[in-house]
Amino acid sequence: MNLILMGLPGAGKGTQAERIIDVYGIPHISTGDMFRAAMKNQTALGLEAKSYIDKGELVPDTVTNGIVKERLSEPDTEKGFLLDGYPRTFDQVQALEQTINELGKKLDAVVNIHVEEKVLIERLAGRFICKNCGATYHKVNHPTKVEGTCDRCGGHEFFQREDDKPETVKNRLSVNIENSKPILAFYQEKNLLHTIDGNREINLVFDDVKKIIEQNN
Ligand code: AP5
Ligand code: MG
Repeated sequence: MNLILMGLPGAGKGTQAERIIDVYGIPHISTGDMFRAAMKNQTALGLEAKSYIDKGELVPDTVTNGIVKERLSEPDTEKGFLLDGYPRTFDQVQALEQTINELGKKLDAVVNIHVEEKVLIERLAGRFICKNCGATYHKVNHPTKVEGTCDRCGGHEFFQREDDKPETVKNRLSVNIENSKPILAFYQEKNLLHTIDGNREINLVFDDVKKIIEQNN
């Protein structure tokens, strides 16, 4: 199963990705997570990415396309892959087309999680993430079952993302709204696009995701 997960910042891509990889065992390729890991390790990639991410801007296409191509060339993607947050510009769409052709792969489905902008702002403001395993929670919508303990790994340390500050969120949203339109149109034209209502309980959204996966596998 070769899948793309689309949606504006806060739509629930990472949240659904956690569940998809648990059930289907395919690698989760999140460009945002890859950049954050590089930032944490202070690599050259991380330092470059930070200058864009902190402002809510996109990292340049050449950089992003390069890391995705490299990642999709790894052998674990033979059983499938889940792209989260990529492609995010039309240049990235074209680069991905070329990469998957070169690798002899094909896309099975593009799942677009739709959520209204007002809801997204509340979600990003309340998000917190497990430092150990990256599981994502929300102060109100999706707290941990036991306060201060990660449901997934039992960790006790959590963090909030630097780019979830209200000023940065505003810019992230407008950049992504603008860029996503031609991408959605492209995958619609290819009959790959499935848009789902992401403003429902996490497990209900996941039920829709599973249906799409089962129908297109
Ligand atoms: P990235 O990390 O991809 O961030 P994003 O697209 O802004 O999306 P988020 O991760 O913020 O949201 P999400 O959809 O994963 O939502 P989540 O599941 O966490 O990218 C970060 C930055 O890296 C970019 O701004 C850019 O600079 C750079 N970058 C990344 N990819 C790039 C690319 N391809 N090209 C160029 N630059 C790139 O959920 C959010 C919150 O809502 C959580 O608190 C969660 O618990 C809650 N929630 C989730 N689902 C529900 C639900 N159904 N109901 C209620 N609450 C819910
Ligand atoms: Mg995410």
